[in-house]
Amino acid sequence: MDYLETAIDLCRAAGDILNYYADREKLVEYKGHANLVTIADKKSEELIIDGILGRYPSHSILAEESGSTQPGAAVQWIIDPLDGTTNFAHGYPFYCISIAVEDKGEIQCGAVYDPVRDEMFTAGRGEGAYCNGERLRVSNVSQLSQALLITGFPYNFRERLDTVLGQFGKFLVASQAVRRGGSAALDLCYVAAGRIDGFWELFLQAWDTAAGRIILEEAGGRVTDFKGGPFSVYMKEILASNGALHDEMLDVLGRG
Ligand code: IPD
Ligand code: CA
Ligand code: CA
Repeated sequence: MDYLETAIDLCRAAGDILNYYADREKLVEYKGHANLVTIADKKSEELIIDGILGRYPSHSILAEESGSTQPGAAVQWIIDPLDGTTNFAHGYPFYCISIAVEDKGEIQCGAVYDPVRDEMFTAGRGEGAYCNGERLRVSNVSQLSQALLITGFPYNFRERLDTVLGQFGKFLVASQAVRRGGSAALDLCYVAAGRIDGFWELFLQAWDTAAGRIILEEAGGRVTDFKGGPFSVYMKEILASNGALHDEMLDVLGRG
């Protein structure tokens, strides 16, 4: 079984866990002021890590709830067991599981699964991006004034309130509309699927963006930092678009 198949398999199994807890007691705990973790995050992560190490015992793991496990291997699995925990905890149906595989520092494949809509977004490097087997392609909207954008607010937004609200305000004025989804991994997949035209966010972590990034790039999108430079999942800023809008979005971010 190849890495992408394993990721898809484990996303689906973790999706069953999220579905199970969706209408049950979620045992919410606080990692920070508004940063939640539920029993579903923990059970999902446990299942995914056990599944990976059962098949690939020497690989490294980077996962949101348990951090780094046996770091240093050439292959590292990057896992968000539940992206959109706040939505999940409130019963707002927009969340997913995200699993990506990094080989010698480069993301090779990724799967993002939305268990509410039963949508499995996948991509392998050079092999295109798919949702439930259908090829994905970014939108062809080429003017920001006609674009639907999406963003997120980091948990530590209070420390950078002026920047976060300043960027939000500028995009609100320049675009057709802005949404706040609550799941960065799904936000990126929605840009890949042409449902949204552009996305930006500050202070995301590798597990939020690793799978979504390759899915979007394989769907023809562009991902950079806020200055148009190369993006790494270990960076704290991400600008992602259908490509056609990218320069205009960079201009907006550059405006003081
Ligand atoms: C969060 C979501 C959200 C983003 C936050 C992330 P979590 O992940 O992706 O959209 O705005 O910055 O931390 O905590 O639900 O896995
Ligand atoms: Ca996340
Ligand atoms: Ca999470």
